[in-house]
Amino acid sequence: MRYLSYTKGDALRACPWLSYSAPLALLSRPCGSALQYWLKVERHLSHNFAMKINLEQSFEQISDYWSPKVISRVNDQYVKIAKVKGELAWHNHKDEDELFLVVRGRLLMQLEGEEMELNAGDMYVVPKGAMHNPVAQEECWVMLVETVTTKHTGDVDTPLTKSIAEQLA
Ligand code: NI
Repeated sequence: MRYLSYTKGDALRACPWLSYSAPLALLSRPCGSALQYWLKVERHLSHNFAMKINLEQSFEQISDYWSPKVISRVNDQYVKIAKVKGELAWHNHKDEDELFLVVRGRLLMQLEGEEMELNAGDMYVVPKGAMHNPVAQEECWVMLVETVTTKHTGDVDTPLTKSIAEQLA
């Protein structure tokens, strides 16, 4: 699955003039369409794309469990979705809160000294520094809001840990 499917290289291949920042008026018709393409790239990369995102359809593109995918960005926060099943790992995020919104299924959020059951429609913000371990007996769909610098398994490196690059892929 590729959310960010346009690259600067694609646009430059379509129209090398773009690399000279040519004034719009100088762009020939073929380059005009390349420019449109480039603007699309820019919007996409800046996450300001005027594009409607359907959660259900986005979830349907995910096949791996515990593999969060960035679907948008709000200021310094990534909006991610993940299908989860089983348990992730005990971890915390020292300086960052982390929002979980259960879209489908049931998530058990294990916290130190307590467990919180989250059903579809329930939302919980794990406070910064709090140890937590999300667990799902059955497949569960979760939307997450995390600061762009947040590592989804904190400083714990597990076989399930995904880099930000993988989450953006
Ligand atoms: Ni976390």
